[in-house]
Amino acid sequence: MHIAVNGLNYSYPDGHKALHDISLNVSRGEKVALVGSNGAGKSTLLLHLNGILRGDGNITIEGVELRDDTINAIRKKVGIIFQDPNDQLFCPTVRDDVAFGPEHFGLDASSVDEIVARSLSHVAMGHAANRAAHHLSLGERKRVSIAAVLACAPEILIFDEPAAMLDPRRKREMISFIKGSNRTVIIATHDPDFAVQTTSRCVIMDRGRIVAEGDSKSILNDSELLSSHGL
Ligand SMILES: Nc1ncnc2c1ncn2[C@@H]1O[C@H](COP(=O)(O)OP(=O)(O)O)[C@@H](O)[C@H]1O
Ligand SMILES: [Mg+2]
Repeated sequence: MHIAVNGLNYSYPDGHKALHDISLNVSRGEKVALVGSNGAGKSTLLLHLNGILRGDGNITIEGVELRDDTINAIRKKVGIIFQDPNDQLFCPTVRDDVAFGPEHFGLDASSVDEIVARSLSHVAMGHAANRAAHHLSLGERKRVSIAAVLACAPEILIFDEPAAMLDPRRKREMISFIKGSNRTVIIATHDPDFAVQTTSRCVIMDRGRIVAEGDSKSILNDSELLSSHGL
């Protein structure tokens, strides 16, 4: 199993219990959507998959259990693209933002340059390498944040609300990017249509619990199920 979550529970420091006994398995190359209304616990669950948050329970990535001594290795395998690219991009230039990960891994300058060029061209942002991310449009910043994650060569890509705030054309581009990826992909979205267009399996979350799971098309055609969970 590529990703295995077992009996995960998490409460925020203020005592709010955001995850209740979550178990989830994802196979290599699979594309899975976590679908739920605001506050369902999607982002909280995603943040556990590379150890940004640590709850009670068990998370295993490619057979390696997430622990203090494995967290750095697991972070190289699991790349999270945050909902807001401003949380991801903080360097003076786009090039520096994308170089940050590979430089951190200790690669030499020419390898880093090559990775940066390849990652930016993958999202059609090579022309912006010398610009500042905060001068770009939201859609462009999202693409740069994807490049910054791709530069770290993760095996698993995790997108938190990838379609949020994108205009229809950028949304279509995002759909084809996700569909075209040969990596394991998990997306969190409150948009059932986006989920059905990008994933084959869908997990419905409500108030911190997984309440339904199955083939994306059949789950997302079940309007009674969706409306009973605020979707
Ligand atoms: N930092 C925090 N402190 C306390 N509660 C939080 C925090 N972040 C999120 N929550 C709460 O946890 C629940 C799940 O939030 P979240 O994972 O962001 O949901 P989703 O991504 O599905 O909208 C919500 O009730 C939210 O208010
Ligand atoms: Mg969220």
